[in-house]
Amino acid sequence: MNNRKPVMKNQSKTGRKSAAKQFPKGHGSAVHKAVQKKQQWKPGNMVYPVPAVMVTVADKQGRDNIITVAWTGTVCTNPPMVYISVRPERYSYHMLQETGEFVMNLTTRELAFATDYCGVKSGREVDKFQELHLTRQKGAEVAPPLIGESPVNIECRITECVPLGSHHMFLAEVVAVHVSEIYMDKKGAFHLEQAEPMVYSHGKYFDLNHVLGTFGYSIRKR
Ligand SMILES: Cc1cc2nc3c(=O)[nH]c(=O)nc-3n(C[C@H](O)[C@H](O)[C@H](O)COP(=O)(O)O)c2cc1C
Repeated sequence: MNNRKPVMKNQSKTGRKSAAKQFPKGHGSAVHKAVQKKQQWKPGNMVYPVPAVMVTVADKQGRDNIITVAWTGTVCTNPPMVYISVRPERYSYHMLQETGEFVMNLTTRELAFATDYCGVKSGREVDKFQELHLTRQKGAEVAPPLIGESPVNIECRITECVPLGSHHMFLAEVVAVHVSEIYMDKKGAFHLEQAEPMVYSHGKYFDLNHVLGTFGYSIRKR
C-alpha cells in the first residue's frame, strides 16, 4: 500500500519547491544537466582549473628568482591569507625558508610563455628575469621584487611551513597588494578580465573567454 502523501506539482517530498519551475530552461539551469556515467580513477590531483602564478622569491644576499606555482590559493578572507605548495628540491625553496617572504604575481595570456618557462627552467641555471625580459618592481613590504608586467602583485609573509609529503605548504599572510591602473575604470573599479587572466588545467593553459554569470546570479531575481 502506498501511504505516502501526494506530492504537489513542482513540490518535492521535503515540501521545498522543485527546481523545475524555479529555474529557466537551457544554459546554466540546474534542471537540464544529464547525469553522467563515471569511471573511478586512483586518487590524484583533480581540482582543475587552477591559477598558475609566478612567485618571486629572494635570499638574504639579494639574489632573486621566479618559480611557477599551480598548487596555490586563498585560504582566509580576514586576515587575508594564501598558500603555495613547493617541493623542497626546487631552487626557490631555500629562499622561501631564508626570508619567509614571497610575491604572488598573477598571470595573463601575454605572460603564458613566461609562466611556462619559469615552471620548467631553474634559477640554478638561468636568471629568469633577464631571459624573459621581465621588469623588477620594488615591493612595499617584502624583499622579493614584483613582476612589473603582471597586473596584480600580492606581497606575502610566511606564517607557517607545513611539510605534507612531496610538497611543503607555505601559509602566508597578504601584507600588500598592487593592482595595475590600466584595468581600472573611471570609478576605480578593477576589471581583471581585461588583463586576460590565465588558468591551468590538466597540463594546458587557457584564457577565460566567456562570462557565464556573476556572483549570486543563480538566486538573483530576474
Ligand atoms: C604550470 C606549472 C605549475 C607548477 N606548479 C608547481 C607547484 O605548485 N609547486 C612546485 O613545487 N613546482 C611547481 N612547478 C614546477 C616548478 O615551477 C619548476 O620545477 C621550476 O623550474 C622550479 O624553479 P626553481 O628551480 O628556479 O625554483 C610547476 C610548473 C609548471 C609549468
